[in-house]
Amino acid sequence: MPQGVIIVSYILATILFILALKGLSHPETARRGNLYGIIGMTLAILATVMSDRVSSYVPVILAMAAGGSVGIYVARKVQMTEMPELVAILHSLVGMAAVLIGFANYLDPTAVFEGASKTVHEVEIYLGILIGAVTFTGSVVAYGKLCGKITGKPLLLPARHWLNLGLLILSILLGKWFLNVESIGVGMIPLILMTIIAFAFGVHMVMAIGGADMPVVVSMLNSYSGWAASATGFMLSNDLLIVTGALVGSSGAILSYIMCRAMNRHFLSVIAGGFGTEGGAPAAAAGEQGEVHPIDPDETAELLLNAKNVIIVPGYGMAVAQAQHVVAEIVKTLRDKGVNVRFGIHPVAGRMPGHMNVLLAEAKIPYDIVLEMDEINDDFPETDVAIVIGANDIVNPSAMEDPNSPIAGMPVLEVWKASTCIVLKRSMATGYAGVDNPLFFRENTRMLFGDARDSLDKVLGQLKH
Ligand code: TAP
Repeated sequence: MPQGVIIVSYILATILFILALKGLSHPETARRGNLYGIIGMTLAILATVMSDRVSSYVPVILAMAAGGSVGIYVARKVQMTEMPELVAILHSLVGMAAVLIGFANYLDPTAVFEGASKTVHEVEIYLGILIGAVTFTGSVVAYGKLCGKITGKPLLLPARHWLNLGLLILSILLGKWFLNVESIGVGMIPLILMTIIAFAFGVHMVMAIGGADMPVVVSMLNSYSGWAASATGFMLSNDLLIVTGALVGSSGAILSYIMCRAMNRHFLSVIAGGFGTEGGAPAAAAGEQGEVHPIDPDETAELLLNAKNVIIVPGYGMAVAQAQHVVAEIVKTLRDKGVNVRFGIHPVAGRMPGHMNVLLAEAKIPYDIVLEMDEINDDFPETDVAIVIGANDIVNPSAMEDPNSPIAGMPVLEVWKASTCIVLKRSMATGYAGVDNPLFFRENTRMLFGDARDSLDKVLGQLKH
């Protein structure tokens, strides 16, 4: 294919990727955004495969068939609740690709560079491998933490900041050595040593991060995978990969910033680790904190029918129970009866950015009643019933009231300010951050125990009665 056609295809693909990002920023345009992304990626792959640099199609087709089949299989099999793990493990592949391409580039006998361009090329290789290796092991550990194979408790080694600083200085010194050697054989020594250090750093960095900071880590690794791809683009002199990597890298960085702000955390303290403990632990004995007031589905329906204003706060448990469709039916029934029903969405509800919005959109809940935390938090005092569906950390008053709480300072949805707050969950267990929740013992809180979908099915039955 002529070079001009390839360049035009790359520019078109870049534009489509930018339009995809823009589309994905709102649920109403997300489907279109996705379509732009698919078309852009198809164009990018076709243009790359048909370029002069591909001398044989057989290995390319075999690799695409193998990778594509695994991708289709995984995408069909994965549950919505497992998406964050899938995203994390996919980031690790980008990291590993950057490492392998870096080594292949360094060992490529046809790549002959002199003077300044040699230095630039080697810096690209060194940085590409470094970022790729950190992304690879960091993402594998994040995957383990998100799916519970590795403890969510932060691993806090003594003098861990000094250890990180030592690894950083060592990587810089190895980089200096790498740039000063002439023979590829000798150059491989600092390159391999740095790769091992970067692998270790990736493990240590994510192991030190506590459960409560995992949302930031997921988006941070997303950003790293973008920069790794961008570095690979520099190594391969592929403009599209540079731009696409930069788009992923910068949007991931912006998302990390938004996540940090949502949790009232500084990015550096997230990296320093230690926030939150292991999730899913049983809460302290009820008696220590006060009385629990259970409620049944019939009473819940009664409260809802008598309410004028209702706010629903969904969390991870709604995703687990797949309760979004019955929630949608309840909302429709109540709205038909003149009740003002709205949703309050916490920026880190669930296990991935936008998790709740995706579920609510899937159940065709109108977007205009789905509000962000900042938009709705002041309305709780005028609310008759706040229903918390499978959420825990994001409605924990101790984040605001107890400076010693592990999640102190994190903004939360102030559901306890409603006249009555109904919490749907199966037990008294803690949420992801492993922190006890005093909300469950408040005077105006009612606990509707059981699987959220079963409970809501019964509530709906009663509402339609
Ligand atoms: P969590 O604090 O994890 O609480 C979810 C609650 O849902 C649990 O306490 C659980 O209690 C309940 N639950 C689980 N299955 C249920 C079912 N079938 N029916 C009813 N209830 C069920 O969730 P959240 O409030 O959404 O907060 C999100 C947490 O995840 C935050 O700590 C956040 O930092 C973290 N996180 C977020 C992200 C992103 S990007 N959103 C990524 C990683 C981590 P029972 O076991 O008693 O039922």
